Amino acid sequence: MNFEHYSVMKKECIDMLNIKPDGVYLDATVGGAGHSYEIAKLLKNGKLICLDKDDEAIKVATEKLSEFGNKVNVVKSEFKDFKTVMSNLNIKNFDGILIDLGVSSYQIDTAERGFSYMHNASLDMRMNQKQELDAYYVVNKYSENELANIFFKWSEEKFSKQIAKKIVEQRKIKPISTTFELVDIIDKCIPTKIKIKSGHSAKKVFQAIRIEVNSELEGLYDCIVEMVRKLNKNGRIVVLSFHSLEDRIVKNAFSMLSSDCLCDKKLPICVCNHKAEIKLITKKPLIASEDEIKLNSRSHSAKLRVAEKI
Ligand SMILES: C[S@@+](CC[C@H](N)C(=O)[O-])C[C@H]1O[C@@H](n2cnc3c(N)ncnc32)[C@H](O)[C@@H]1O
Repeated sequence: MNFEHYSVMKKECIDMLNIKPDGVYLDATVGGAGHSYEIAKLLKNGKLICLDKDDEAIKVATEKLSEFGNKVNVVKSEFKDFKTVMSNLNIKNFDGILIDLGVSSYQIDTAERGFSYMHNASLDMRMNQKQELDAYYVVNKYSENELANIFFKWSEEKFSKQIAKKIVEQRKIKPISTTFELVDIIDKCIPTKIKIKSGHSAKKVFQAIRIEVNSELEGLYDCIVEMVRKLNKNGRIVVLSFHSLEDRIVKNAFSMLSSDCLCDKKLPICVCNHKAEIKLITKKPLIASEDEIKLNSRSHSAKLRVAEKI
């Protein structure tokens, strides 16, 4: 299997993790193991735990990281279930955690996974191929209102209502079963002027359906908070996000965790007794260099935020 994945901002992520050769690290989204491979290379007696919910990613990462022997554990798991993995592997805390959110270029480029509006395939988009909900169900079974809502909520698509209406009209004639059938429907709802300005007309709707199918944003805030609580002092959390909704969640979680007080600003004194648990290493997110963006257009929207446990 050729799992091509260009790891975004690889050097920045690894530098920011401040790897200690004897430390314990978590790569919550191992994918093609590009980042993990670099982490593992820097470990002596340390350990690296790698998670992913995609069977193919798990297979490829296991193979790619096999040369590191029992320094590395690759486990199929949702990252929100990381504490179960910790207790199964008898791990108390981490010295660094990396989350590289979203979809891998391999998932996008493997036509039959149905993630891409550029390839014709069955509507699927599941990262975890064992789950039931897929893009076919969302497109053919969600009500017009539900569709319009997810298109707006997950990608701020301006033509959400028109696209949802057209989908419902079309599926009354016959179910919508392929990516290109869906692309055609979306294309008919977007005015030419907008299409010229904003790139591919199906981009936003495909993103919205993918987020819905994979519950990508559900529980992310809480998961970041829980992960920070499992960091050792001076341990770092490094999060790469690829769209504004993801970045907002990371930013809000970091902001809460780095604040000494969460009281309403109008109160004269603090009554919450909240104490900062992290300090922000990146006040503003880092972005990919122009050279990297030229090499890999996906890095164009990447935002890297880093915080350190106090
Ligand atoms: C951007 S890719 C990671 C690429 C990786 N850093 C590399 O260098 O190859 C994101 C990966 O996270 C996985 N993923 C996304 N959401 C997940 C979740 N909630 N739990 C576990 N894995 C997830 C996807 O299946 C995908 O393989």
